[in-house]
Amino acid sequence: MALLELRNITAGYDKNMILRDFSLQVERGHFVSLLGSSGCGKTTTLRLIAGFAQPESGSVIFDGRDITHVPLHRRNFGFVFQSYALFPHMTVFDNVAFGLKMRRIGKEEIRKRVGEILELVDLRGFEKRYPREMSGGQRQRVALARAMVIRPDMMLFDEPLSNLDAKLRVKMRVEIRRLQQELGFTAIYVTHDQEECFAISDEVAIMNKGVIEQMDSPYHIFNSPRTEFIAHFVGFENFFDLTRQSGKLTAGNGLAFRVARDMPGERFRACIRPEDVILHSAGETCENALPGEVLVTTFLGRNVQYNVRTAIGEFAVKAEQGNVYSIGSRVQLELSANKIILIDPTDS
Ligand SMILES: Nc1ncnc2c1ncn2[C@@H]1O[C@H](COP(=O)(O)OP(=O)(O)OP(=O)(O)O)[C@@H](O)[C@H]1O
Ligand SMILES: [Mg+2]
Repeated sequence: MALLELRNITAGYDKNMILRDFSLQVERGHFVSLLGSSGCGKTTTLRLIAGFAQPESGSVIFDGRDITHVPLHRRNFGFVFQSYALFPHMTVFDNVAFGLKMRRIGKEEIRKRVGEILELVDLRGFEKRYPREMSGGQRQRVALARAMVIRPDMMLFDEPLSNLDAKLRVKMRVEIRRLQQELGFTAIYVTHDQEECFAISDEVAIMNKGVIEQMDSPYHIFNSPRTEFIAHFVGFENFFDLTRQSGKLTAGNGLAFRVARDMPGERFRACIRPEDVILHSAGETCENALPGEVLVTTFLGRNVQYNVRTAIGEFAVKAEQGNVYSIGSRVQLELSANKIILIDPTDS
């Protein structure tokens, strides 16, 4: 049985419903990320789970119990929110001890547990400091300690790293994952950074317009996106239609394409990532050859992007710096059979 379940939730603000018939299951001990573009309802979902808001209809089940109307302070969840700042006038010790004092835990026990958790986030010796005397990463670790010290049944994160610089973000996300694995807590993590959530999650739920469009392991989402929206999200930029004609998958220009992962059906959207398209000179023979003409070249540092006009639409191709084709060059694109993904258009 899932530890947390959202069942057919409808929720929003006034008359404006953001989530419609929204369902989600999170297994005990899993690290699940909600990923989606700005405004798609990630924070709204987290607020319902935390108890900051109630749904119009549907229910929130935790450990087999309906907690839809259980108030925030009766749910034992830890939060780390982007804007959930530390108390500036309190020392690190008092910031971390806050939740324990609220729970009327004894002084000795508080000292012990704050000590343990500060050890875990590598902030032993910082007890007497004030937040203003610490770096962004250290403050974020205090926020983590403060949330975890109450031994929450679940941790909820809302873009906890978005105020940090890129390098620190990478370091902190490894830290969060390590803590989660060490302590074994269940976590829901909201972000719109694809790389971040793929790096640390057991499962990723990608949201689009208030519903989860695909929930799967990062590996599966990356390699087998189910819809065009998801494919876009994980870096597919080239899309074209294929239909099955006398047993062959055929594109609009009449060319037959071979794919490694065929599936039942007659009509498909096919897609391929720019870095998976191989660029050859015009006329070269290759697998799934598609002739074209270079329209734009863009220098990207490690590689060069070519936008190539073909009979079945424009293709973006990322190639090593070595091959140089100028605008107007005739080229041959190779769409390797094992790099083409088929999508059932009726699923999108
Ligand atoms: N307090 C509020 N009152 C009215 N509308 C709101 C309120 N909070 C959010 N919304 C609206 O609800 C929708 C979903 O907001 P939500 O905060 O859940 O998005 P999000 O996925 O977390 O986005 P972001 O990535 O930008 O944080 C948005 O269209 C937003 O404008
Ligand atoms: Mg948000």
